[in-house]
Amino acid sequence: MNILLATQKPFAAAAVKGITDILEAAGHKVAKLEKYAEQSDLVAAVADAEALIIRSDKVTEEVMAAAPKLKIVVRAGAGFDNVDLAAATARGIVVMNTPGQNSNAVAELALCLMIFMARTQLTPATGSELLGKRLGVQAYGNVGRLVGQKAKALGMEICALDPFLTDEQIIAGGAQPVHSVEELYAASDYLSIHIPALPSTIKSIGYDLVTRMPKGATLVNTARKEVIDEEGLMKALEERTDLKYVTDVMPDNYAAMQEKFGMRVFATPKKMGAQTAEANVNAGLAAARQIVDFFATGNRKFQVNK
Ligand code: 3PG
Repeated sequence: MNILLATQKPFAAAAVKGITDILEAAGHKVAKLEKYAEQSDLVAAVADAEALIIRSDKVTEEVMAAAPKLKIVVRAGAGFDNVDLAAATARGIVVMNTPGQNSNAVAELALCLMIFMARTQLTPATGSELLGKRLGVQAYGNVGRLVGQKAKALGMEICALDPFLTDEQIIAGGAQPVHSVEELYAASDYLSIHIPALPSTIKSIGYDLVTRMPKGATLVNTARKEVIDEEGLMKALEERTDLKYVTDVMPDNYAAMQEKFGMRVFATPKKMGAQTAEANVNAGLAAARQIVDFFATGNRKFQVNK
């Protein structure tokens, strides 16, 4: 089969080699499209592809229409909001993700961003410590749980909200369960967001929730920019000069935020939560193995458009 590895943000070399080795050993042909500049480059590259491995690359209806032989798309990572699932399903294309494979990298970055803000972005100004502070985790899945557990080891108190878990499961994962998003924000000196971008979550975090946070609180977003109502967040940051926002997903209005809020906001220039050699290898090789297995046995375990 023809497999295209299409990554605007390329994987580490070790991951690319591992992916290629796995696919070629199973008799597949591998083509690569890395660091491409335009979406039209992706559209032009998929004509012969029977399988795609992607990261946050956008697999739209237009991409699928240009790929008549495409049978499977594997998003090497967790979130699959970059793939048009309805269009894939309509065309009989299987879409999978590789859940859990890059979670540790994202969790470590969430901790890194908290410390970075607590220590005034590594300037000499007096900072604060995480010890004894309350961390709220919004969604206690693969990443959220790791953030909670690592933060606990730093002496933070952890509370978590997750509508898909029982109280017992949250407690077993090391956190105190809370039962509403309002309660979670009101309790959190640090609030780490780990919800996916869905119609029900898009723009769900704004003025009302952010202004419930305690004095001096920091909102940490290593999830998706779409879940933030940026207008509401900016209004909250304007009124509450004690609050901070740190994110790994570039806000649409970052220039305006920086101008208004200075050191109280920080965004990484490019989403880097999953950008470790380890996460690239874990997610990339899992994607390659899932494709091999899919063509060899029909295994659809990680299919997300069922
Ligand atoms: C994910 O959903 O797995 C993360 O957001 C990582 O995305 P990336 O592979 O584009 O860095």
